[in-house]
Amino acid sequence: MKTDCIVQAAPFSGRKQSLIEDARRERSSGSADSPGPLGDRENFVFEKEEEKEGEAALNVLFTLSNDRNGGFFKIGRIFEMFEVKLLHIESRLGRKSKNSTADLEFFMKCEVQNSDLEVFINSLKGVTEDVRSIPDKKVPWFPRQIKDLDRCNMLITKFDPDMDHDHPGYSDPEYRKRRAFISELAFTYKQGDLLPIVEYTAEEVSTWREIYRQLCSIYPNMACKQFLDNLQQLEKECGYGEDSIPQLREVSAFLKERTGFQLRPVAGLLSARDFLNSLAFRVFQCTQYIRHSSSPMHSPEPDCCHELLGHVPMLADKEFAQFSQDIGLASLGASDEDIEKLATVYWFTVEFGLCKQDGAVKAYGAGLLSSSGELAYALSNEPEYKQFNPEEMAVQPYQDQTYQPVYFVAESFEDAKLKLRRYSATIKRPFSVRYDPFTNSIEVLDQPSKLQNVLSQMREDLKILHIALEKLSSS
Ligand SMILES: [Fe+2]
Repeated sequence: MKTDCIVQAAPFSGRKQSLIEDARRERSSGSADSPGPLGDRENFVFEKEEEKEGEAALNVLFTLSNDRNGGFFKIGRIFEMFEVKLLHIESRLGRKSKNSTADLEFFMKCEVQNSDLEVFINSLKGVTEDVRSIPDKKVPWFPRQIKDLDRCNMLITKFDPDMDHDHPGYSDPEYRKRRAFISELAFTYKQGDLLPIVEYTAEEVSTWREIYRQLCSIYPNMACKQFLDNLQQLEKECGYGEDSIPQLREVSAFLKERTGFQLRPVAGLLSARDFLNSLAFRVFQCTQYIRHSSSPMHSPEPDCCHELLGHVPMLADKEFAQFSQDIGLASLGASDEDIEKLATVYWFTVEFGLCKQDGAVKAYGAGLLSSSGELAYALSNEPEYKQFNPEEMAVQPYQDQTYQPVYFVAESFEDAKLKLRRYSATIKRPFSVRYDPFTNSIEVLDQPSKLQNVLSQMREDLKILHIALEKLSSS
């Protein structure tokens, strides 16, 4: 099944940027799952939202018995006593009580001082019944609106030419100055700004040209069909070619029209959580500087060659765009352990993924499609191929010092998307999320009323589908 290789795989030299390594470090340096001040709060939902100093966000579910006259007013006094801020309240007739149909079930979202939590909850227990048992889960902050991506900017600087002694640009002060200048454009960017234009130098264009020629000579036999078709469109519409480096502004507009994806300039390698969270909004954080001219075939950090040649053509494919967004949605509020697993899935798919097409194996991963050496190696008889399986991928040891010994081969993007969604459903979070494309925001489905809204919208969509089917069948 492996494609005949027309290019001799060049030996790998250097180290590859890796979201996984970064996710692992985040996990070991701080745990999102550490026990809260209440220990075994078995009777309460505890959802940590955006951190406010000294305050905890709390969801409480309980039943107020009809026998307890004035129970609701007692709850009010407890709220008053602890100066609890009530954010949301819902009620419905009790469903569990056998004694009375007049019992009421309550759902409350509130904010309470951390120091008061335990006493506050014990006080509530004294006046309510049938408090629900849902495990305590702290949820790391995540962006809810697209403008929140301005806060998703944690950079991993260890592969920068200023920090990494092995970076080809480390001993070139002019290169470091130029890279810093382009990075500064990303630092000052805010969501909604026009994407910055970079006037690339003749030397930078020359580096791009060398890479472009080399890769384009091997793409026809090795890249998947979606990549080849979209690269052709990018050459027609976005200035892709040997003679100039495409501008992010133009490329972003191209992607927006095709799949709703947009680019956002970034100053270097982002933390795994911030990078994956951005994908949930169909935003791809994209570097704009180029690798050092002395090393056109390798860069230890992401650069515009990797992004524009490896990632962009695939982001113009609808199914792949959905696949990428699905990884992003799965990452919102995920534990550090799950972020590490998702970063590994991302590594073996979006970066180093292979797929079956017309009886052959082709590449769709950006790490392959921006590296002629690894692209040829991946499609040779040397590495091991495994079937696409997110559960296995998530814990597969990866290689950032040389080529991968193992690649996962997808049957199709549709199949990969379904399997990823099944895997994502196993990620433990006390809520589900849904992307609202009209407001570019994330809807957190953690309350009955929100589920009801989603159901209403689905009914409306089904009506449209029903009418369309009727029209088709009558024509
Ligand atoms: Fe990448």
